[in-house]
Amino acid sequence: PDDGPVADTVVAEVARATEQFGGHLVTAPVTVDDALACDVVLAIVGSAGEVGTASATMPPPPGHPPRTDPYLRAVQAVVEDLLALGSSVLNPGMFGLGRHRGRTVVVAADAAGLLYGLHALVRRGEAAFSGPDDFVWDLPVNEIRMLDHWDNTVVHPVMGQVERGYAGGSIFWTDGRVRDDLSRVAQYARLLGSVGINAVGLNNVNVHAAEARLLTDHLDGVARLADAFRPHGIRVFLSVSFAAPLSGGLETADPLDPDVQRWWADAAAGVYETIPDFGGFVVKADSEGQPGPFAYGRDHADGANLLARALAPFGGTVFWRAFVYDHHQDWRDRSTDRARAAYDHFTPLDGRFDDNVVLQVKYGPMDFQAREPVSPVIAAMPQTRLAVELQVTQEYTGQQQHAVYLGTQWAEILRFPLAEDGRAVGWIAAGLSEDHEAERRAAGLVAVSNVGDDEFWTGHPLAQANLYAFARLAWGEEDPVAVLDEWIGLTFQDPSVAPAVHAVLDDSWHTYEKYTAPLGVGFMVRPGHHYGPDVDGYEYTAWGTYHLADRDGIGVDRTRATGTGFTGQYPPPWRDVYESVETCPDELLLFFHHVPWTHVLHSGSTVIQHVYDTHADGYDEVVQMMQSWATADGRVPKAFFDRVTERLTEQERSAREWRDQLRSAFHRRSGIPDATGRTIY
Ligand code: GCU
Repeated sequence: PDDGPVADTVVAEVARATEQFGGHLVTAPVTVDDALACDVVLAIVGSAGEVGTASATMPPPPGHPPRTDPYLRAVQAVVEDLLALGSSVLNPGMFGLGRHRGRTVVVAADAAGLLYGLHALVRRGEAAFSGPDDFVWDLPVNEIRMLDHWDNTVVHPVMGQVERGYAGGSIFWTDGRVRDDLSRVAQYARLLGSVGINAVGLNNVNVHAAEARLLTDHLDGVARLADAFRPHGIRVFLSVSFAAPLSGGLETADPLDPDVQRWWADAAAGVYETIPDFGGFVVKADSEGQPGPFAYGRDHADGANLLARALAPFGGTVFWRAFVYDHHQDWRDRSTDRARAAYDHFTPLDGRFDDNVVLQVKYGPMDFQAREPVSPVIAAMPQTRLAVELQVTQEYTGQQQHAVYLGTQWAEILRFPLAEDGRAVGWIAAGLSEDHEAERRAAGLVAVSNVGDDEFWTGHPLAQANLYAFARLAWGEEDPVAVLDEWIGLTFQDPSVAPAVHAVLDDSWHTYEKYTAPLGVGFMVRPGHHYGPDVDGYEYTAWGTYHLADRDGIGVDRTRATGTGFTGQYPPPWRDVYESVETCPDELLLFFHHVPWTHVLHSGSTVIQHVYDTHADGYDEVVQMMQSWATADGRVPKAFFDRVTERLTEQERSAREWRDQLRSAFHRRSGIPDATGRTIY
């Protein structure tokens, strides 16, 4: 009972499948006999409601016969049967899927749910069409499942077209405008819709001059992108500059100025006139040079609410990023700690954000490092809708030259029991309370996309697994290796290749951590582009990202007792767990403590020996990854095989560089030999 664009997509997908694989598509209205003759039934049963009311609340579609139609009654009978089996309430995006009375059935609350159910059916493969009765309900845990593109409309002289992009140019933009040919965008939208992504940010959070004009001058192009995403249940968002009213002719961008408020209200109205289901704005304000409310003596609640109120009449949302810190820090000043910044800026504002503001918080207090503690902000703003931000694009994790499966890292972050009542990061982001009841302030997960116009979409073909894993974890899957297995099954024709791909990817995040970032130390990368080792690259800079290694020891003292006090931002028990060297987990030791090189870890090794060992071991693991991949030769398409092989060759070179530089650098500092006698340069 739906003739909207998403339901049309489902019909088109089934039509395409029956054409390809045989069978025959029957759409309502038909007779009972037709319905009962179907092997597969897909049906929308109406919006959220109690058992028994689902059928009664189902409106007949315009121009269709009333609901006394026998086909609808037959489907409703099956649906009511199923509702009695499993679920009393239907939520948006929810679907039920399985075998029932000898048929394969997908029922959903709405068209998006039917789309997700259809793709879940596809994921099951042939098994979905036979076997005994077995029916399950599934629904997205997170209301918001969003990908942000850091795409510029023109090629930026330093950052290129896609900031931190490692897969070529933008699939959306060329020469300052939307591409003429959007067939690739349509494929991308289909891919994302198939795994439940429901929001996409179309441009870089750093809004440069050309992109500042998107809101006003390029709406027709943005509308074409919205048209490409809409059939897959995805709404589009634009990153906007807080200073936009200035380029619009005003003398101020002060959020409390009535002219500024009017300017934003008019701008929003203009967008919705062209794109009635526009999602809203993404904003990076007062961060790394982007303009914001501080210039006018206002705070971030004033800033976010200004935009929220402009969007509210149209149902739009503001994603306001919490990535605010001083990037003009003096390295001599030990009292300023970048890790503290987001909490210090935002927690005093809890309760002041409008309901259509989502605070977008990076998972860690620094910046998408291979290893950080989770951000304490996530548990500290119960009155604020909050989304956790992840980075699918591998800025600090090998830039899609290195095979690094991030599903493992994200799963660990999402199940970390951060809140005092034990709620995990993933539960807080989803707005779930302890008894799993959804709270009003539900939001979700956002990630920076890793897709570009590269032949393999993601540069490193195996990085596609990260895109897939983000979507599946945002949906609510919890086991990253099971998700990877699903991706492998859907990606490769030859199932015998699975062990090789697992061998390369399963533990690749830990491998990368081993040869790059010991015990919670990050940022030992080349400044600017962030690829490859540079132990002191950021050590005396203004960015606030230090390891403080000297001849005696390494690490940053962030304790309350003697350091920056960052541990105090955590709820119990973590404020005490991290405060003490005794209880701080090894993998975060140097994030929270400055210790001597000879400090003995829980593992029994000393800090310096740990650095020596993990860097050597991490490199050796990369060599094993290469050997495992070699066994896939001839079992995956040649171009795919060759590209992965080429990237693994670079990963081996780079890992060797990391190994030798870090082992040598810390040997020179500490003067302590490697107990194993391996070569140090
Ligand atoms: C990192 C990254 C920048 C990006 C920023 C952000 O600092 O290096 O390119 O703009 O994060 O998340 O805003």
